[in-house]
Amino acid sequence: MNRFQRRVCLYPTLLLGFSLVLFFYRNPPPSIQDVDHSKVNVKSIYDITVKDIHGDDVNLRTYNGKVLLIVNVASKCGFTDLNYKEMNILYEKYRSQGFEILAFPCNQFGEQEPGSNFEINETVCKVLKAKFPIFEKINVNGEDASPLYKYLKEQKGGVLGDSIKWNFAKFLVDKNGHVTQRYASTTSPLQIEDEIKLLLG
Ligand SMILES: *[C@@H]1O[C@H](CO)[C@@H](O)[C@H](O)[C@H]1NC(C)=O
Repeated sequence: MNRFQRRVCLYPTLLLGFSLVLFFYRNPPPSIQDVDHSKVNVKSIYDITVKDIHGDDVNLRTYNGKVLLIVNVASKCGFTDLNYKEMNILYEKYRSQGFEILAFPCNQFGEQEPGSNFEINETVCKVLKAKFPIFEKINVNGEDASPLYKYLKEQKGGVLGDSIKWNFAKFLVDKNGHVTQRYASTTSPLQIEDEIKLLLG
């Protein structure tokens, strides 16, 4: 092959190679596409809809502009009384400034929230005397975890894996919908009061 012939071969080869790279870059085969169903494909927390304790849809856009404390609750946990007491204190103190508590009953930790939605609501209202409304019972881990919790865990991974470890894990969301903090069950609501004040501005 002389120099001219080499060049004639080289250019189409380069062009073909480049085209292939571009094609696979734009159309990745399914094996390397994101097929993880544990992930939730939403751009913002405000694209997510949850259900209240009546079973009615609540779009989280309702909370745009508010600081949110999102908690998985259980009625029969060693942390229950302290958490409800302190969540009530925070709610009464900061609600007027744009603070909301989104509490989701969950039975995945020690089966400490076994009741129906109706029973949970009765306990939460009459025994635990929550000042804030609660939402429908959900799963926070696993394939059928609530899209909200899939999103929260994506945004803020946990220590030793992203899964929620126990009742009363806490997430803070700022006024623009960013998940800013994640706390373990052992962090009590009043321990994060300063952070809430900071986000309220
Ligand atoms: C929750 O319990 C309170 C107090 O008993 C009651 O007024 C309210 O209607 C209940 N909500 C549901 C959905 O059962």
